[in-house]
Amino acid sequence: MKMKLDQQLNLLKHMLGKSKGTRYISVSSGKGGVGKTLVSINIGEILSERGKRVLIFDGDLGLSNVHLMYGIAPTKDLSDLIKGFATIEELPVKVNEHLYFISGGSGFQELADLPKERLTTIVQKLYEYAEDNFDYVVIDTPPGIHRTTVMLTSCADIPIILTTPEPTALMDAYALIKVINREEGVENFYVIINKADSYAEAKAVAESLSLMVMKYTNARVNFIGFMHYRKNLIRNVVDQKPVDKNFKEELREALINLDLEVNGKEGFWSKILKKLGV
Ligand SMILES: Nc1ncnc2c1ncn2[C@@H]1O[C@H](COP(=O)(O)OP(=O)(O)O)[C@@H](O)[C@H]1O
Ligand SMILES: [Mg+2]
Repeated sequence: MKMKLDQQLNLLKHMLGKSKGTRYISVSSGKGGVGKTLVSINIGEILSERGKRVLIFDGDLGLSNVHLMYGIAPTKDLSDLIKGFATIEELPVKVNEHLYFISGGSGFQELADLPKERLTTIVQKLYEYAEDNFDYVVIDTPPGIHRTTVMLTSCADIPIILTTPEPTALMDAYALIKVINREEGVENFYVIINKADSYAEAKAVAESLSLMVMKYTNARVNFIGFMHYRKNLIRNVVDQKPVDKNFKEELREALINLDLEVNGKEGFWSKILKKLGV
């Protein structure tokens, strides 16, 4: 029986190691409130306008969730799937023809405590659902050096780190990069500066982050772009209109500097299983 389970696990790990072409983009920050959720949503909107099928995975339990920004409440979240209260097909909420989101609830934290067999079953379901239905999965991670953030960011094909020019946000971004580099060996990060006054400010901020990262870690940060601080965005979010033309245009510029066709060396879900000890 033991042998059989081990064999099954190995077979599954082999399968999950082969991505069907879905790419995983994580959006992480050291500090909350820097615009992660807004960026995740707008990346989803931009890619879906190009005809790509996009799933936003809302891993942030904070106050400004994807569903609050859109004003649509999901009835079921990842935690319900884990507890057996929902099937995977019941989780996604449709934003437009090509864009869906799934609320993580407390699911990502619960994954870590599941027995191996159950964990494997859940991860297999997520793998099949994501890889069969979507070209991109955008993951909005919890802020700070959270176990879940470290795991999701280190497994993503494209790890984006978001910060504002504020010194505290910058130091927290550095601390997050350092931990993910030291613990998980990730060497390449893509940095976007949000709420900047000018390109010059954003560039200077990105450079000082890059210098710190190069001095104290063996990682590298690639500055891919910035968004201006815009007062109206706060209003937009209150009005549940998370898409602003100018913000989106600047983000689109930043995405040009990313290789969105990148091929993950190893499947996202098999890396997740490994990090969770399977
Ligand atoms: N470029 C910007 N200019 C002005 N306000 C912004 C900008 N980006 C985000 N915000 C505002 O900052 C707040 C936090 O954004 P949010 O996306 O919820 O951050 P996070 O997910 O990192 O906590 C929201 O009120 C949002 O409208
Ligand atoms: Mg958020």
